[in-house]
Amino acid sequence: MLDIWNGAQWGDEGKGKIVVPAMRRFGYKANARYQGGNNAGHTIYLDGQKIVFKQVPSGIVVPDTYAIMGNGMVVNLKALYMDELKRLDELGIEYSKRLFISDKAHVIFPHHIEYEASSATSKKVDTTKKGIGPAYTDKTARKGIRIGDLMDAASDSAKRKDAAEMLRNNGATNPEEALCEQLRHLERIAPYVRNTTFLLNGLIEQRLDILGEGAQGTLLDIDHGTYPFVTSSSTTAGGAATGLGIGPRRIRKVISVAKAYTTRVGEGPFPTELNDPTGDRLRTRGDEFGSVTGRLRRCGWFDVPLVRYACDMNSTDKLVLTKLDVLDEEDTIKVCVRYDGIREGEIPFDLANARPVYKEIRGWKRPTKGIQRFEELPSKAQDYVDFLKDAVGRDFLAVSTGPRERDLIWI
Ligand code: IMP
Repeated sequence: MLDIWNGAQWGDEGKGKIVVPAMRRFGYKANARYQGGNNAGHTIYLDGQKIVFKQVPSGIVVPDTYAIMGNGMVVNLKALYMDELKRLDELGIEYSKRLFISDKAHVIFPHHIEYEASSATSKKVDTTKKGIGPAYTDKTARKGIRIGDLMDAASDSAKRKDAAEMLRNNGATNPEEALCEQLRHLERIAPYVRNTTFLLNGLIEQRLDILGEGAQGTLLDIDHGTYPFVTSSSTTAGGAATGLGIGPRRIRKVISVAKAYTTRVGEGPFPTELNDPTGDRLRTRGDEFGSVTGRLRRCGWFDVPLVRYACDMNSTDKLVLTKLDVLDEEDTIKVCVRYDGIREGEIPFDLANARPVYKEIRGWKRPTKGIQRFEELPSKAQDYVDFLKDAVGRDFLAVSTGPRERDLIWI
């Protein structure tokens, strides 16, 4: 069956950190990404080595499992092999018979990136400038080029002409050259391209389990996020069905990941944001710098109405709480429990108008880093987790207490 693991906030919740231990613990046979591209940065630490996955599902580090890049993704072919496959080669991680890329995923072309560099919308939203929005725009306008189209163009001159024509209409300055360049990149990844829908459904037929990995977070979803300050894909659990080609009845459960506080990269409303020394402290202690663009992450307190909204939209079964240890030195921790003038459990249409009402909680002021058993957490830290559980209305499956794979409490 398919289980979905996605982010409950604005991304960077620590999904990469949790996916690998989850693959091992629950015996998933495959890790499949269902949306986004190299705007994502899923960081893991493996034997002391830092690896940042952007397009390849992070579960590739788990031997004997498949890593599948689904049809809902937009793919930068060059970055895929120059950046990530090269890194896997350096680390000696074998992937030749385990990595599969959907022939229906769309290709990010250089003109998408060029267009974004000067687009007013991209500046307003403060995007990652990876060409993600323009690639999805071409897709929904039915003028995108899929990896399968490139495969066809490589062997069929009529299809090659069509693809060049499409690129010209889409604003590529030198379409023939752009196509040739992508065809060169394609040679490096062609062995991994296939119809991943058949592969995934075949695994389910064999009663093997798949971990569907979301990128970005629920509040960046194109439909349900803080529009227009969102990414261009469906980050919510619903997006996993279309982004992988697996029917909703094959979804068994949804696990959403939330930080013990909140961060956001880029522009857009952020009710609990801390523009003060506390926010600076969370940023430093939590190493809150974007793993893709190096931008500072904005930091703030945990926002219950937003996480509850995310859980409702995702039909989240259980939550994973990450980075609890970042709060270790706080005297007082605040949690937004509702917004002033808004009925409890609801959020306003425009989040920019939301005025948080906080509950203050005494900090535990003791180190929690690396703790692996819930009972070993300071009692006030246990109380914090229990408070969030009751306020959001979801149990926790795990609590993360540091960046290493073993810094984790399974509950
Ligand atoms: P885009 O996805 O590059 O179009 O950027 C749209 C918005 O989503 C911007 O505010 C980005 O900062 C944000 N964003 C995109 N990818 C990520 C991510 O992986 N983590 C956090 N924010 C992201």
